Amino acid sequence: MHSFRYHQGQLFAENVPLQSLAEKHGTPLYVYSKATITGHFTRLDASLAKLNHLICYAVKANSNIAVLSTIAKLGGGFDIVSAGELYRVIKAGGDPAKCTFAGVGKTRDEIEYALKQGIYCFNAESEAELHYINQVAGELGMKAPVAVRVNPNVDAKTHAKITTGKSENKFGIDFDQILDVYARAAASCPHLVIKGLQMHIGSQLTNVAPFLEAVQKVIPLVTEVKAKYGIEFFSIGGGIGINYKQSLDSGDAAWWQENAEVHPLTVQAYAEAVVPHLEPLGLRILCEPGRFMVGNAGVMLTKVLYEKRGAAKVFKIVDAGMNDLIRPTLYEGWHQIVPLKQPADATVEKVDVVGPICESGDFLAQNREIPLVKAGEYLAVLSAGAYGFTMASNYNTRPMPAEILVDGDKATVVRERQTLEDVLKGEHLA
Ligand code: LLP
Repeated sequence: MHSFRYHQGQLFAENVPLQSLAEKHGTPLYVYSKATITGHFTRLDASLAKLNHLICYAVKANSNIAVLSTIAKLGGGFDIVSAGELYRVIKAGGDPAKCTFAGVGKTRDEIEYALKQGIYCFNAESEAELHYINQVAGELGMKAPVAVRVNPNVDAKTHAKITTGKSENKFGIDFDQILDVYARAAASCPHLVIKGLQMHIGSQLTNVAPFLEAVQKVIPLVTEVKAKYGIEFFSIGGGIGINYKQSLDSGDAAWWQENAEVHPLTVQAYAEAVVPHLEPLGLRILCEPGRFMVGNAGVMLTKVLYEKRGAAKVFKIVDAGMNDLIRPTLYEGWHQIVPLKQPADATVEKVDVVGPICESGDFLAQNREIPLVKAGEYLAVLSAGAYGFTMASNYNTRPMPAEILVDGDKATVVRERQTLEDVLKGEHLA
C-alpha cells in the first residue's frame, strides 16, 4: 500500500491523516488513494509495453465513478459484467469503445444497451448466448462484435469461490468445443463480427505458473482462430494477486525500492513469463486486472464500540460488519488491521474483530494479534479497495458507507453515506 503509511504516529493516506477523515465523515468509511491506483496502472502498462495492449480494468472490483474516471484518464479500458457497470463507465467519462462485456447471463436489455453504446466486444460464455447476441443485433440492424471465452481447464490454485478456469466452473466454453463453436457462429450468425478470444482462470493468483500454463495451452487455439477468422485480440483476463500481509509502506525508501512489489506474484514476473509467448501472436492483447489495480489502494476505517472479554475469546466489537466488507467471512480473506494512532505501548493481544451484524460469520478478523485499542479508537482494515464497497449490502438495514478519494492533501467525498431514507427508497406499504 504505497500511499498508506505512519507519520509521527498517525496513519496517513498520501498526505491526509486518516483519523481526521474518520472524525469528520464517520465510520465505516472507505478511503482510496489516487496515487496508488495511478501507480499500479502505470506499472502494469509499462510492463506490457512490448505488446500492442489495452488494460481493461475489471469494474466489479471497485466501481466508484471517481475511481473509474481516474483509470479512464490514464487511457484505460474497462471489463464490465452488466449494463449498470457500463452506465457507470459512461458517467465517469470512460470510452465504451474500450469496454469488453463479460458474464454468463447477459439479458436482452443489456445486450441492446451495450450495442447502442458501441462497446468494443461482447465476451460470450456459451453458444446459446452467441446466438442470442446475433439475434438481438439482427433485430436492431446492427453487427455485434464478439469474442468467445475459453475455459482452459487449468487450476488457478486460488480459493475455490474465485476459481473460474476449471471445467466444473460455469464460465467459458470447454477447450475442446471452442473451434466448433467458432465454426458454427461463422457459418450461421451473420450479425456477429468475430473479433477475439478471451480467457480468465481465476482471481487472487499468487503464482505465475497457472497463468503461464493457461497461456501456453491456449496459444495454439488463438493462432488457429486468428488464421481462420482473422481475430484482432486475445484477452488473457485478470487475476493478478496482491499481498494482503504486507500492506503498509514502511516509509523506508530503500526498503520500498527493493520490495516495490512485495506481492507474492509481482507484475514484473507476470509480464516476464507471459509477454514472450504473447508477442509473436501479432494480436492486440487485453488484460483485465481488478484487484491489482485497486486492492491495495483502499482501506476501510472502523471505530471500536465495545470490548467483551469472554470465556474463550476477547471480542473487539466495531461499527463495520460483514455487510460492509464480506471478504473475511466469504473467502476466508485475511486483511491486515492496524490502529489509526500508533500506540506507544507495543503490547499486542489476540482478539476477534467482529461487527454488529446478527450472524456468527460477522467478523473482520479472528484470533488476530493487534495492538491494544480501546472503545472510541479507530482501526483501519487494509487492502480493502477491491471487492470491498462493491460487495457491501444493506443487510440488517445498515446504510452503505461513504467513500473518499484522496489525492495528495485533498480528500473528496466520492460517495455520500446512505441515509435511512435512501435505504428505504422505493419501498411501499401494501
Ligand atoms: N475478468 C473476469 C472475466 C473476471 O471474472 C474477473 C473477476 C476479473 C477479470 C478480475 O479479476 P481480478 O484481477 O480482480 O482478480 N470477490 C472476489 C473476487 C471475484 C473475482 C471475480 N472475477 C474476492 O473478493 O476475492
